[in-house]
Amino acid sequence: MTRRRAAILISGRGSNMAALLAAMADPAFPAEAALVLSNDPAANGLETARAAGVPAEAVDHRAFRGDRPAFEAAMGERLAAHGADLVCLAGFMRLLTPGFVASWRDRMVNIHPSLLPAFPGLRTHERALEAGVAFHGCTVHLVRPEMDSGPILGQAMLGVKPGEAPDDLAARVLALEHRLYPAALSAFLRGELRPEGERILPGPLALAG
Ligand code: GRF
Repeated sequence: MTRRRAAILISGRGSNMAALLAAMADPAFPAEAALVLSNDPAANGLETARAAGVPAEAVDHRAFRGDRPAFEAAMGERLAAHGADLVCLAGFMRLLTPGFVASWRDRMVNIHPSLLPAFPGLRTHERALEAGVAFHGCTVHLVRPEMDSGPILGQAMLGVKPGEAPDDLAARVLALEHRLYPAALSAFLRGELRPEGERILPGPLALAG
């Protein structure tokens, strides 16, 4: 099996990145870590990646003064320089243009901290609690131009505890994210999950916390 060359895009802490790097350190995992790339040179995850021996670079979006295509071209140049053929978004907090997303169609994945299509966007745990849901969780999906949308590769869910605080719920979901992301990515890259239109066949990977 030829392993794919993954670039992991981050903006901050990088705990999902660390979970992916740990999985990719196993030669049996269907992707190897080619690069960790951040839009913020101060992202803590860059140090974590370097400590793991993975090239880690930043393309500071602020230098492009809102010129999103120029920012993406600079990122694309770094992805090409490291031979990346897969992009894993892991807490990457910049919106991407439809053109950039199209150029990585079915080769770009994201993790989102809710059970999509519920609660796209930010503050997902607070909003889930405000909505009074019984179940919450996280989703790994292929990336489409609309934010937090795209064919669902896997979901992990847990039951919300009565009176649970947002931070406690976030921590429990994050632990699930760290299990789900490598598992869903592996199943996709091995061809066990395949996109058919806007759905994944035979069906998304399901984990329960
Ligand atoms: C995670 O909750 C992820 O689902 C969301 O942003 C957060 C990033 O956390 N997209 P980390 O940087 O992976 O620790």
